[in-house]
Order: sequence, then structure tokens, then C-alpha cells
Amino acid sequence: MKTITGLMAAMLALGVSASAALADGAAPGQLPDPPKFDAQGKVTLVGVGDILTYGALPAYNEPDFVKALEKAGKLPALKDRLPKEPMIYKTGNMKDGIGVYGDVMRHVIGGRPEGWNYWAGQSQGWGGIDIGLQECLTRTGPLFQVKAEELQPLPNLAKSWDWSADGKQLTMHLIEGAKWSDGEPFSADDVMFYWEKNVLDTNVHPLNGANPGTFGEGTTLEKVDANTIKWTFKNAFPTQVLYAMAYGTFCPGPAHILAPQHPANSKNTYDQYKNAFPPSYMAMPTMGGWVVVDHKPDNIVVLRRNPYYWKVDEKGNQLPYLNELQYRLSTWADRDVQAVAGTGDFSNLEQAENYVESLKKSADAAAPARLEFGQRTIGYALQFNYSANGWGDTDDRSVGVHKLNRDLHFRKAVTSMLDRQRLGESLVKGPFTAIYPGGIYPGTSFYDKASTVYYPYNVEAAKAELAAAGLKDTDGDGILNFPKDVNGGKNVEITVLGNADYQSDKSLVEGIVAMGEKVGLKVIPKLLSGKDHDAARDAGKFDWSVLRQGSEVITAVQNTDHLAPIGPNTTDFHKAGADGKVDLMDFEQQLVDTVNKFIGAKEAKDRIELMKQFQKTATENVYTAGLTVYPGALIINKRFSNVAPGAPIFMYNWAEDNIIRERVYVAADKQQKYELFPDTLPGKPGSAPGEGLVK
Ligand code: GLA
Ligand code: CA
Repeated sequence: MKTITGLMAAMLALGVSASAALADGAAPGQLPDPPKFDAQGKVTLVGVGDILTYGALPAYNEPDFVKALEKAGKLPALKDRLPKEPMIYKTGNMKDGIGVYGDVMRHVIGGRPEGWNYWAGQSQGWGGIDIGLQECLTRTGPLFQVKAEELQPLPNLAKSWDWSADGKQLTMHLIEGAKWSDGEPFSADDVMFYWEKNVLDTNVHPLNGANPGTFGEGTTLEKVDANTIKWTFKNAFPTQVLYAMAYGTFCPGPAHILAPQHPANSKNTYDQYKNAFPPSYMAMPTMGGWVVVDHKPDNIVVLRRNPYYWKVDEKGNQLPYLNELQYRLSTWADRDVQAVAGTGDFSNLEQAENYVESLKKSADAAAPARLEFGQRTIGYALQFNYSANGWGDTDDRSVGVHKLNRDLHFRKAVTSMLDRQRLGESLVKGPFTAIYPGGIYPGTSFYDKASTVYYPYNVEAAKAELAAAGLKDTDGDGILNFPKDVNGGKNVEITVLGNADYQSDKSLVEGIVAMGEKVGLKVIPKLLSGKDHDAARDAGKFDWSVLRQGSEVITAVQNTDHLAPIGPNTTDFHKAGADGKVDLMDFEQQLVDTVNKFIGAKEAKDRIELMKQFQKTATENVYTAGLTVYPGALIINKRFSNVAPGAPIFMYNWAEDNIIRERVYVAADKQQKYELFPDTLPGKPGSAPGEGLVK
């Protein structure tokens, strides 16, 4: 409960408004508690060992059509395709138990595949395509159902690991005898190629931004033997790094296909390496449950089951149960519409503008899809381009704005000009959105309200802070001007980058433009689609960026390197200049130190303390200006079995990972004839779209 201080009471008595009294500048205020909103799905918490194990089973099984292909001599025997000890999912953790083969999950996405070189930074179109293709050393998506006491990443390609007595070495045992989807062996060499030629080679930028710093400065990795790798760290027991070995930062690629194209082994430039596997290149080898077999631009991407997949159920059925995944290339908003209507199967309902309509339609008992809201884990922040080192745009205006961004008065002005209540309501009315000041999301496990500094909406305070930052409307046109020596004293114009593919992103940008106008700032929207948006962010071509943030602000342990610029390229709004250095401000240096300590911290209590420090420094200094947080909902067609109740659309990872698609199935009496390439398996790497399939 709020208590009215003597000063406040006096102001009220005098009829002085709080905002007028604060005209001197922005002062922290009381952060209102988020409106009550109960997540619908109840998660059953389990231990890691309840979910999966590894072992050899007496016999294995596969779909009938694959058996037939095997019989026809078109495929090696199943036992020779599986590793010595496949991963085994435990029946007890599968909501509906052992499944049956068949059917398809029909996804709809707004992204487009740029190509298949994920390791050199190509987007495959998102929406879980990459999650179905790439497998990583560890796995975190399903951790939403793991008990706090047992919380650590699930084993995956690394089936076990041990720490040396001094905690500085981590030896990982890889699955033995597993194969890529083209039948070539998977080994430590694939891991080493990824590490040495893609992560350590800073000319290559893996898609989710893995770089040496991600695993702690000075970390090394070596091959011990074909199935064993060894990490060496500067700190003892940096158990956090296990999270950085999951999606999307440590998912090795097929070295036998990639290495020959890498500039180290060919005449290719780095750009040619990146583009060596264009969208028309089919059957890029994967360790995932499915392999891309067809792509019709702006129409569809089709994935068929991987006959070498290395995961089984307790009865020895090779996974996945679903024979096919389809990705219709449309828009993200269409994904919601189609999932609700039953013409698509899956959506992460995350654009709040669609909530009311989707809720109404799903409420009908006869609706084809079920819709389940989770916790408030979808959130946005306004990020400031902090470059003063030549990274990003270098014209006088941009340089002038970046300089403002580095001024705490200016950032306090920006955070105070934001009416977060209204921003939230502009997306959706009702108890969904909550005020988000910045830092770790409210309601998540590392969040600490007492360490959160919140500057409430206050136009007068914002104006005072702008004046303190040296901005004045010198020509009387209603827009503040730069000081005379900056950009010729012209009007301050600020570009705000937003992703044009999402209505929520566009609505927030619009709101910020309007709120800027009220304090004399001319904010110009820069709305770009998918790949162009990401490229602009990557290159620092923005002054402000409105971004739907990642799991770092939900779990802190996942994508931890995104919390502060701990490496030259870890933070998308403040990267290194030509000298390879990030020109950190003092408070950023504090954030970096705290985050590095957090990465190296072994004890839970130290981590909690460090995240409190992070929260304080980040919010007090308005490192980013938080905007809004709200819950997302998983929409999934009712014909699917084994979807865990309470699976969040986003926590450690997206729902496409969380629901463990390889063990999702459709009961025999509910199966549909949706397969576009029935009774076929992927062809050879480099096949043409829709051609060369094994049948
Ligand atoms: C996009 C979508 C998300 C999710 C992810 C998966 O970002 O907007 O809902 O599907 O892709 O990578
Ligand atoms: Ca002016």
C-alpha cells in the first residue's frame, strides 16, 4: 500500500499537482503492482531425470513407410541409423503417453528463409523452423516444467558432463554414433568446426549472436576424442555457461558440408560462405527431427522426418511422431487468425491487438484450437543507440542523438515522457499489460521490486530533464533544438526503429512518436520488415529501437550475455567501433562487471544478489526505457496430443521448443491427410525444391 508522505499531503492540501512540484527533474516514484492476471495452464513440476534418459533398448520401431523403404534397400537398417544410446523420452512425462506416427503440424509464419547457413547468421524464417532443424549441446525450452531445486539445462547432444575438482574444466560426453540427416557421422569435429571457424572467427556472425564472450572471456574448447570435448574457463564452476550451450548459441552445424565452403578452406569470401546454401538448397543436413525438402518462395517451406533422428520413446519408437512440418509463408498476424480458425495448427499469440478477437472465437466449445494464456513474459523496451565510437550512422545528426542518448538527463526525460499505462492500453484493454520500467521483467524469479527504480510518467519532469540536457527550442517552432555546436543547432530529430511485421511493434512506435511530440522531440518512425529490420539493428542504423526482448530479462540465466555489453558484439545497441572496443559509460561498465560475475557465480544466493545489483544499476540509469509486459497465449489445434499444460509461449525459449514437438502426436482417429509429401524421406543435400526425395 502506498503511504502519503507529509510532503505529498501538503501538496495535495495546497492543490499543487505532483507533476508541477517535480518540474525540477525526474524523481523515482512508486511502481504500481501489475493488474491481477492468472495464467490458465497449471504446470506440473518434475526433475530433469523424469523427462528423459539415454540408453539402448532391446528393439526399435519406425513408421511403416520407412520400413518399406528400408526393405527396398533405399535406407540402412534403423539400428544402424540410431546412436549407440539414443535419447529416450520417459512416458511418465508425456501427457498422453506413447504416440502414433503420422500427420503434420501446419505452421504459418511472417518470416522468410534467407538461406540455410544458420552458423554464418542466416535466418531461416523463424517461427520455429530453426528450432526444428538445429539441435544444441544442451536444451532449455522445456525447463519451464523443471523444479527450482533441480534447475539446470537438459542434456541434448551432450548427454552428460562433469566438472573438474577445481571447477575450471568441464568435460562433455556427446551422443555416440549419432548421424546427420544425410547419414554422415556426427562427432566432436562438428562441434570444433562451429567453435573455431564460426564463433572464434569474428568475421562470421552466427545467427543468435554466439561469440567468445558468450562463454566467458578467455574460455577455450578442445576435442578430447570423437565423442568428448573439454571446456576450460577462467572462473571456477561457471555453471551458467550450460545455458549458453542451448538454443540458439551452441547448435553445431554439419562440418562435412560447411567446412569446404569456409574461407579457411576455400577461395570463398565470408559473404560467399554465408550465402553458399541459398533458400533453394534442399536437405541441408540437420540433427533435428525434420529436414527441409521443399521451398516455394512466399508460399511454403516443407520439412519431412529425419530418418536418422536420435531420439526415441520408451517403446523404442524412433521420433518424431509427426511425419511433416509445414511453414506457410504469410504474416505473423495471419498465424493467429489461421490457428484460431483451424486452417493452421499453432500460434504464439503475442500481438496483443489480436487478443480479444482470438479469445472470443476460442471460447466456443466447438472451436478447433485451444488457447491458453501464460505468465507476463512478452515485453518491449526502447533501447538507446549508445555509440560514440563510429559504429552505426556517423552523420552529424545521428552522432548528436547518440551523444544525447549517453546523457542521463536525456534518458530520464525519455523514460518520464512515456505514459506506459496508455501504451499498454493502445495494444489491448483489460488486465493484460503491466507497466515495465526496464531491467528484469516484473513477476519473474530474479525480479526484485525494491531494486527497481521507476520514473513515473511526468511531462513536466521530462521537459526539465531535456532542458538540463541542453535542449532548447531556439527557433520557436515547437521542436527542441540541439545546442549550437551540435548538428548546427538544428531541430532534434530522432529515428525510432520498429519491426513492421508485428502490429504491436508498430503501435508502440506510434505511441512513442506521439509522446515525444508532447515534450518537443521530433521522433521519426523507421519501420522495417524482418530481415531489413534485423540488418539495421545489426549495423546500428537507428537512434532508438523498440524491441520485443529475449529470455535474458525473464530468466537472466538464458542469453545472459545480452544483458550488458560484455563482449564487442553482445549488445545490439552498443557494439564495438573500428578499434574493436565498446566505449562503455561508467554505469555500463558496472553492468558488465555484474553480469560477468553473474556468469561466473556458482551459488544461487550470489546470483540473486548480483541480479538485484544489475536491476538497480540498469533501472536507475535508464539503461533501456522499459515499455510494457503482458502474457502471451499458446494457440494449438485440439487434435494434438502430448502438449504439456502450461507450456509458456516464451520463457527460456519459444513454445516451438517448449512443447517438445518431436514427441507431440495426433491420435489415429484424429489424423488428417495434410501431408504434402506422403511416404517420402529427404533426398540428398543440395537437391532442388520438392525433388530428389527418397520414395
Ligand atoms: C518469431 C515469432 C515468435 C516465435 C519465434 C520462434 O519471432 O514471432 O512467436 O515463433 O519466431 O523463433
Ligand atoms: Ca525548434
